[in-house]
Amino acid sequence: MGNIVLLDDLTINKIAAGEVIERPANVVKELVENSIDAGAKNIVVEIKNGGKTFIRISDNGKGISIDDMPIALERHATSKIRQIEDLEKTYTMGFRGEALASIVSISRLTIVSKTLDMPSGIKLVAEAGDILGTEEVGSQVGTTMTVENLFFNVPVRYKFLKNDATEFRYIKELVQKIALANLDVSIKLINDGKNVFQSSGNGNIKDIVYTLYGKEVKDNLVEVDHKEGDVRITGVVGNTLMAKDSRKNQIFFLNKRNIKNQVLTSSADQAFKGGTGIGKYGFFILNIEMPATQYDVNVHPTKMEVRFKEEQVLYKIVYHAIKEALLNKEFLGNTDLENNKDTYIQNEFEFLTNHYNTTEENNSSKYISSSKIVMPTLEETNSKYMNMGNDGKLDLINRDEIRNVDYKYCGIVFRTFIMIEINDELYLVDQHAAHERVLYEQIKENYKNNIQNNSQLMLFPEIINLTHKEMEFVQNNIELFKNYGFDIELFGENSIKINGIPDIEYKIKIDTKDVFMDILDEMLTKERTTIKDVEERFIATVACKAAVKANMDLAEDEVHKLLDRLLKLKNPYTCPHGRPTTIKIGHKLDEKLICN
Ligand SMILES: Nc1ncnc2c1ncn2[C@@H]1O[C@H](COP(=O)(O)OP(=O)(O)OP(=O)(O)O)[C@@H](O)[C@H]1O
Ligand SMILES: [Mg+2]
Repeated sequence: MGNIVLLDDLTINKIAAGEVIERPANVVKELVENSIDAGAKNIVVEIKNGGKTFIRISDNGKGISIDDMPIALERHATSKIRQIEDLEKTYTMGFRGEALASIVSISRLTIVSKTLDMPSGIKLVAEAGDILGTEEVGSQVGTTMTVENLFFNVPVRYKFLKNDATEFRYIKELVQKIALANLDVSIKLINDGKNVFQSSGNGNIKDIVYTLYGKEVKDNLVEVDHKEGDVRITGVVGNTLMAKDSRKNQIFFLNKRNIKNQVLTSSADQAFKGGTGIGKYGFFILNIEMPATQYDVNVHPTKMEVRFKEEQVLYKIVYHAIKEALLNKEFLGNTDLENNKDTYIQNEFEFLTNHYNTTEENNSSKYISSSKIVMPTLEETNSKYMNMGNDGKLDLINRDEIRNVDYKYCGIVFRTFIMIEINDELYLVDQHAAHERVLYEQIKENYKNNIQNNSQLMLFPEIINLTHKEMEFVQNNIELFKNYGFDIELFGENSIKINGIPDIEYKIKIDTKDVFMDILDEMLTKERTTIKDVEERFIATVACKAAVKANMDLAEDEVHKLLDRLLKLKNPYTCPHGRPTTIKIGHKLDEKLICN
């Protein structure tokens, strides 16, 4: 006799449940998405014990008819598509017809629902896939789903759940994301009887951001509304002060569905580059609206993964959307809003295209150690994404310095902070961070304009002795130094000769040797990192080491030169490491500024 048997329905459903329902938060996701698909404008999510014992989602959607109710629990039962082709015109969150079947196979599920046509509501109770009974009940139009004792018949799953607080945290993050994507739906979250938050459903993203993240975040966000062809991107991006060490605050929605996609993430990284500080990630919440014909969401049961038909086009649009918003930000009295999406900083553009890396970036051969940095070839530089227009030509993005800020210089405090007044507001500019940002842009600009010929020659070349490790790094990366303005030669086995340093147009006396050694030191301390990080860190380090320090006295004309340059930059907010260059102290009428 053979060994192969057909599995029973409950087993099949329990196995399928394993794909989408790993923890209570997944149940909440499926149920809230069903409410949204049903057109609900009010959704209440109630949780007890981290969702392990009790999850209730109530909505005012269109309800489930009496005939549909038992069918809804069947596997592959859906009202949302009829055939696979329908996916190309489906914008609902669900379409697989699996969620309820999965949930009911591993819990006790109670549904109370009423459609407009039904005289009264109907209540259905089911457990472990079996319907235990139905009865008429009084109810408003809408649906309430209660899930109790999740995983009661899948002990292995139950065992892997975290404590209640952690499970609730997952739920909260999930519900917050859904609220951020569905601005026209009011969502309330209640945990163990306490209100955790409620979104207003008034359609204003800044209101919900304020509710979820607080005032400071809200004040440091720029709204995004960018359209290119069939694609529209809306949401918010954070200015440089909002950048964080993790990607936690990077959220993409595709037609309101939360997705993860590496190409889009890379695009965002490029757009934020130079503005977030090295090793930091920009803040964004973006919803991409585009025709369902342009992507496939049926890649994985959780629907987090998506395949785009024209990834490279979308890459560019996301880049434009973020960049445009960041550069349009009113800053330091700049009121000239730049609305032309093509006015980006050209040198930044070129710099960025040099550094675009594909998803194969994780390939270890592309990682460098302290001993070798491989400069991208021209072909790599002109790589497929950033610089290709629809016609395949290079998109030229022009520098357009229209920022024009009038400021009044008030003096320097602590030999470090330059005080300026702009439009009745008082600002403190950190002279080191500001100079660092200016030099960083300058070095990139030099690189753009005049590769390998942007050195400021020194009167007397300097010979520096190096250790074996340092020497190896310089030998292997001599192009990197030259590209960014170091005129250096190998000089015997253990030394190098420095003839020139990057032309930074400042008279500030810098000790060439110190600067060079500091850079080497910095480059050698962090060993394994990607090419683009190394190069960016290199420039940031050069800028940092060559910049005026705190406690260095600046002459007034030097201060003005620094401020003029800083205020003209498209991104004057932080130094390349992410430290703010400028802090707003307050308005002339602010109480805190008036001494009694
Ligand atoms: N809150 C609700 N209001 C109205 N109808 C609902 C609700 N929840 C579920 N339904 C109905 O039950 C059906 C089955 O839901 P289920 O979540 O299992 O599948 P789906 O949403 O169609 O697809 P997926 O498995 O991808 O979520 C839905 O197609 C819908 O018709
Ligand atoms: Mg569903």
